[in-house]
Amino acid sequence: MSAPTTDRHAADRHVTAERLLKSSAKKSYDPAVDIDWDAPLPADKIWVPEHRVSLYGTELWDRMTPEQRVELGKHEACSVASVGLWFEVLLMQRLLKDFYAEDPTTPRAQFALTEVADECRHSQMFARMVHTAGVEPYGPQERIRQLGKLFSVISWGPAAYGSILVAEEVLDRLQREQANDENIQPLMRQVNKIHIMEEARHVSFARDEVTRGMAQLGPAEKAYQRFVIAYVSMMVVRSLINPKVYAAVGIDPAVGRRAALGNPHHHEMIRWAGEKIMPFLDEAGLVGHPGMTWWRRSFLLGD
Ligand SMILES: [Fe+2]
Ligand SMILES: [Fe+2]
Repeated sequence: MSAPTTDRHAADRHVTAERLLKSSAKKSYDPAVDIDWDAPLPADKIWVPEHRVSLYGTELWDRMTPEQRVELGKHEACSVASVGLWFEVLLMQRLLKDFYAEDPTTPRAQFALTEVADECRHSQMFARMVHTAGVEPYGPQERIRQLGKLFSVISWGPAAYGSILVAEEVLDRLQREQANDENIQPLMRQVNKIHIMEEARHVSFARDEVTRGMAQLGPAEKAYQRFVIAYVSMMVVRSLINPKVYAAVGIDPAVGRRAALGNPHHHEMIRWAGEKIMPFLDEAGLVGHPGMTWWRRSFLLGD
């Protein structure tokens, strides 16, 4: 007699977790040891490629000096890092809530704790990088920080892991480009290399949670998941650049924010960064009514 579907789902997710646990045991980093925090920051290196700065291609950009462009890039890189670690803290909450509710001895539960440990080190690493760069740890805007408290209350299952995937895969795409660019600060490149390596496991785990989770839901629950993931994903991409960064180069934050949100080049960058994850979420049945307004506002689907 074959096992009931739910038992098979449970068994499969442990197979994935077991594989990921083996990979974690083989390859993990300690940023306190694997990064030379005392190395000087070369003055001729930049923090992000120019074409990834939110104002690139705007009139404001044309009026900026080369020094201001580099400075804005540095502040945006640090905004993304400090918002990224805030995402990681929200993810850790989700993983710990799931761990709290299940058998702690299973491979899936063990991997959830391993991922929390990875994210703990990443958050320390990003915070330390921002501090070393001498930039304010902007984090998300206050309104969004408050909304974040609701994340682990309103989202679970596919929407929770799917929106985490949006954050992880969008950042991964940007980090891969920077890790291979010799014009980028060596500190930034090393941080990105460590993050890329360890995030690959998180992406496998979350993709598995999404696919399995959706297969177990009815139509009404699926619609709820589609709404939540679209709203949270829009918040994820909109929060990456805290408008305060513009003040660092003498631009009014509201003016800079408006210019970035109206910048077709910036929209295209977000679409490009989401190019890997969006087809997966679509195939999983997470992109559709009633979330389409939020997806369109996110720029992840393109203009
Ligand atoms: Fe991370
Ligand atoms: Fe992660």
